[in-house]
Amino acid sequence: MPRLLFPLLGLLTLAGATLSVPAGRAATEDPAAGLSSPAEVYSAACAACHGQDGRGLPRERVGFELGLPDFTDCSFATREPDSDWFAVAHRGGPARAFDRRMPAFGLALSQAQLEAAVQHLRTFCQEPDWPSGNLNQPRPMFTEKAFVEDELVLTFGAAVEGEREFELEVLFEKRLGSSSQLEVVLPLGLVEEPPDPAQPGTGGWAGGLGDVALGIKQVVVAVPGSGTIASVIAELILPTGRTDGGLGGGAFVVEPALSLSQSLGPAGFLHLQAGAEVPFETQAEVDVFWRAAYGYTFEQADFGRAWSPMLEVLGSLAVEEPSAVHWDLAPQLQVSLSTRQHIALGLATRIPVEPGNDRAIGVWAYLLWEWFDGGLGEGW
Ligand code: HEC
Repeated sequence: MPRLLFPLLGLLTLAGATLSVPAGRAATEDPAAGLSSPAEVYSAACAACHGQDGRGLPRERVGFELGLPDFTDCSFATREPDSDWFAVAHRGGPARAFDRRMPAFGLALSQAQLEAAVQHLRTFCQEPDWPSGNLNQPRPMFTEKAFVEDELVLTFGAAVEGEREFELEVLFEKRLGSSSQLEVVLPLGLVEEPPDPAQPGTGGWAGGLGDVALGIKQVVVAVPGSGTIASVIAELILPTGRTDGGLGGGAFVVEPALSLSQSLGPAGFLHLQAGAEVPFETQAEVDVFWRAAYGYTFEQADFGRAWSPMLEVLGSLAVEEPSAVHWDLAPQLQVSLSTRQHIALGLATRIPVEPGNDRAIGVWAYLLWEWFDGGLGEGW
């Protein structure tokens, strides 16, 4: 089997002479021992398959049919955070439901060497306008994050008190180039209307399409060193929903907003968003809103499921009545479902907290699919 020789040779060199790291060295041992520069670690351990240039060696050189990823392709190579690549390098392809032919290096290389290899992988994308995947933090239920994605999110909401009210929202997000994103929101509503005693036969369920929204997001600042990314968002809300059933607002509305996401240490994060809802009709009410979400990601076992509890604080007011501020708290949890972590579940409750309010508590859930990273049935 001469075709198997190349990767095998690579692995042997790796365990032997070049790095002088005995195979079996645990990642917890002195990471400085035998440490080489990122380029050296990469050449010794990774280039046998991924190629010196990061494009991946052809099938005849690696000896298997499976195509290798092209790390010079920024659209692919900037999506994942370092921690994901580290997991794959440490535990092998199956750590993120990739193929076993991506070997596990956790016993052969120290933590520092694996980090160095990942750091070298990062140098292959040469276009600086692609924001780093390290800036991509978990998605809160209501605050829009600054990172741009290819994503489909199905959100379900229900009021738990008062009128029975359900909402289903389909959100489709498509990345455009390096730092823009298009979004389409399709809401469906179902409301139980109380019967009017004066008019027999009234009441019952009203349902249908709500106000469809089209949006565009543009990253304006991305500083991986400080973990900061900021975007401007512009949304156009169309009056497609029936106003009599309470499904639509009945007017064209533009919603400009600013969004900022900040990493806090290795696993904490903060999202901030502020904006306004401005109806086209001049006499209609302008609403201003601000939102903040703080969260922290816990990893289950080594490289396992990601659990991200978050707390959102949501504020809004009508410009005509600035003293009447609405405040909501939304404690919530996001958890990755698939091994690839491209499918996740979010659960939240939204509690109105300003004194004297008569707004209902709501429960919310979303199912999120980052479709660029794999199909619905893949990556489990
Ligand atoms: C024996 C060949 C081989 C070697 C050596 C190798 N890889 Fe891989 N690697 C692969 C294959 C094959 C895949 C694609 C797996 C798939 O698509 O299912 C892959 C995929 C990856 C991915 C996943 C990219 C993604 O899709 O998100 C990362 C990260 C990676 N390799 C890093 C490394 C690092 C770092 C090293 C060196 C420490 C290394 N690889 C050495 C074969 C190899």
